[in-house]
Amino acid sequence: MLDVLSSAHSSLPAGSNVVLFVAEKSKDPIGSFLFGSVARKALEQARGVGFEGKLDQVTLVHAGLRTVSRFIFVGLGNEKEISFDFIRRGTAAAVRRANALKLSKVFVRVPVLSDMSQSSQAATEGALLGAYRYTEFQSKPVPSALQTVSLLTKDASEAALVKSGVARGRVFAEAVNTVRDWVNCPPSDMDPATMTALAQKASRSGFKLRVYKKTELKKMSMGGILGVNRGSAKDPFFLHMLYRPKRGPVRRRIGICGKGITFDSGGLSLKPAKSMETMKDDMTGAATVINLMKALAILQPAVEVHGFTPITENMPGGDAVKPGDVLRTFRGKTIEVLNTDAEGRLVLSDALSFACRQKLDEVIDIATLTGACVVALGTKIAGLMGNNADLQSRLSGAASQAGEKLWPLPLDKEYEPMLKSHVADIKNIGVTGVAGTIIGGLFLKSFVDETMPWAHLDIASTAWSDEGTALSPPGATGFMVRTLLTYLTGRYS
Ligand code: BES
Ligand code: ZN
Ligand code: ZN
Repeated sequence: MLDVLSSAHSSLPAGSNVVLFVAEKSKDPIGSFLFGSVARKALEQARGVGFEGKLDQVTLVHAGLRTVSRFIFVGLGNEKEISFDFIRRGTAAAVRRANALKLSKVFVRVPVLSDMSQSSQAATEGALLGAYRYTEFQSKPVPSALQTVSLLTKDASEAALVKSGVARGRVFAEAVNTVRDWVNCPPSDMDPATMTALAQKASRSGFKLRVYKKTELKKMSMGGILGVNRGSAKDPFFLHMLYRPKRGPVRRRIGICGKGITFDSGGLSLKPAKSMETMKDDMTGAATVINLMKALAILQPAVEVHGFTPITENMPGGDAVKPGDVLRTFRGKTIEVLNTDAEGRLVLSDALSFACRQKLDEVIDIATLTGACVVALGTKIAGLMGNNADLQSRLSGAASQAGEKLWPLPLDKEYEPMLKSHVADIKNIGVTGVAGTIIGGLFLKSFVDETMPWAHLDIASTAWSDEGTALSPPGATGFMVRTLLTYLTGRYS
């Protein structure tokens, strides 16, 4: 397992491999003052063989110093555009290269930017996210060479900032990587009971957990969750988690709901084989919420956070809910199910109305809700909807701080009639091919109290990457975990 540390530049051991960042067109690598003219000469050499300093570009040059054996230069692109996210991506690229070169240890001089603690957090995240691999089911996984990434500090005051950044970065990255592990896990292994057991284990780090089983869900009339569960051989669970800081006042009470479909076959409205291949990722929202709770217990921000996760499979068993069936949800509202594949909104209808019964200042939900989100925003941007402009803008601020992308879609009233049912209070689909992501959002909105500020994150297109991203190999990405953690810990502008 890769570890990230901080270490004083003055105690750099002989023969070290040092990562330095380089802006395009710049003569000196950032932080080269620590190495005198040698770093500049090495960069000249790298430029001579085509290294331009473009974003994500990495190259290696022999330094010939006693302390530094090799420099690994990482491109940051245009100097004016450099952000914390470039540091995150750059460190991930450097770590991947170091692993490919079978280096066991590298030292990184992180650019200061405006805040050394934040820069170090970004670098730590980049290292740990970039090194992530899912090898659980491989008989002979190739071991990772890289064991340690050490962030170089110039003096004691810097060391304190770097250490705090590394500590936060570790918690952030661990939350993301655990979500990735759970999502990458085969769906028959990561079933509702297993997820619930993992939440129980996570709760030991310091949050409360109440588990509602099937009999209790029946008593509470959670018809959305029970309806989706009917076709599955496995029992559903509904988890209510609570984080409160150990000390001090609470600034805000926030509810966060996550869709937890451990496998989405579509139910009787069965998905085509190809679309089903990645449907183990349909519990990403719930995995995100559970791991946020754990991270909060470690970081202890001054907020109260309630997590709600409905967890079940969506399967086409003999007793499965049928197109045309009507479900009665937690607050009594009835839903005509015309497509059993629009099941996320069914389980979330119970979760959101349950959340609105708690004493909360705002509610956020996160869900792999609609395939239409891929069409609207592609695989790098999540959809943001809601009933409160302030909450949306705070979330957007947190996303840009965390280096993740969100884009608002309008929950326009004019589309509400598309959800009108002739038999029940509402139906679960609109018109095929028409504003699918917005319709999903409008459906959820109707289960949220009008006075409750609420935001909905549709991560259907971003939770999974077939090709991999700058920060993750192919598979689960853990997208939005960092944004939500940034938001809940209040470190955004
Ligand atoms: N889990 C899917 C959404 C999804 C699609 C997630 C692709 C990740 C990648 C969701 O339950 C679903 O099937 N939605 C339907 C809704 C439709 C029937 C109104 C969809 O998007 O096709
Ligand atoms: Zn579905
Ligand atoms: Zn689904």
